[in-house]
Amino acid sequence: MNQGFAHGRGAARRTVAAPAKVNLHLDVLGRRADGFHTLETIFQTLELADEVTVALSPGADGIALTCDDPALPSDARNLAWRAVDAFRACRPVAGRCDVHLRKRIPAGAGMGGGSSDAAAVLRALAALVPDPPSAGELAAMAAQLGSDVPFFLTGGTAHALGRGEILTPLADLPRLALTVLKPPPPLPTPSVFAALTDAERGPREALGVAHFRERYAAGRVEPLHNRLSAPARRLEPQVDRLLDWLAQRGAPALLSGSGSACFILAHVDPPPGVRAWRTWMRPRSRLDAL
Ligand code: C5P
Repeated sequence: MNQGFAHGRGAARRTVAAPAKVNLHLDVLGRRADGFHTLETIFQTLELADEVTVALSPGADGIALTCDDPALPSDARNLAWRAVDAFRACRPVAGRCDVHLRKRIPAGAGMGGGSSDAAAVLRALAALVPDPPSAGELAAMAAQLGSDVPFFLTGGTAHALGRGEILTPLADLPRLALTVLKPPPPLPTPSVFAALTDAERGPREALGVAHFRERYAAGRVEPLHNRLSAPARRLEPQVDRLLDWLAQRGAPALLSGSGSACFILAHVDPPPGVRAWRTWMRPRSRLDAL
């Protein structure tokens, strides 16, 4: 539990991985009164990961966030910053809190980069303070930060309902190879949900955890389904073209979350103009592994 600590000049420091995710299944079950959608989804963490370092040092209380991607905000607009605030509202963290993000996960991709960074901050702080929050307290902080954040407290393969916070862990799948491919335009999550037609929005019944346990029992994850593919295709022609291109590669492929990244369960070279990351599924036991 304590590996990763380095004490120097009074600072306690921890560096953890913040893995990307894909959704192996994502269905919209309906719309809630607060405007959020109820979902049924299967989350899966990937070896592709950001690296998050949290350091606590004596001095005046404060947060300093640095990031190797200058395009990302390094203030309270960044979910990693808000994660420190949420943690501090629940547990005293004396002194200065420095957070550094080494970004590898593309932004605006539907791969949970910001959410995973925030969960990594919560995990790192929990490991650094003398009186760590319970798993339930951490889950409450995570849910308040965003729909995908609670999943990143445990990672692996998980079934989710609600906004994504009602989680049931599933047995690890084999470490399947996959390639993430991202066309340049990002897709803002709210726009994709807003572009659902009434018929796509539901209401419909959840398939349930038992369905997925049985479906994945042999270590195969077909068929893949994402209800957000249709609105993402309508909003962004490059996603539409990429999903058609992937459908001809002979391996299961899907939009990731709300896009604009897509993934295929194979290692492939991308078409021109599309960035690609070759990676593997990451089991729960490797959540923090750098
Ligand atoms: O919770 P998060 O900040 O990730 O959600 C971003 C946006 O995506 C929400 O403001 C909402 O428009 C949409 N969303 C939704 N239903 C969900 C998750 C996200 O409508 N379950």
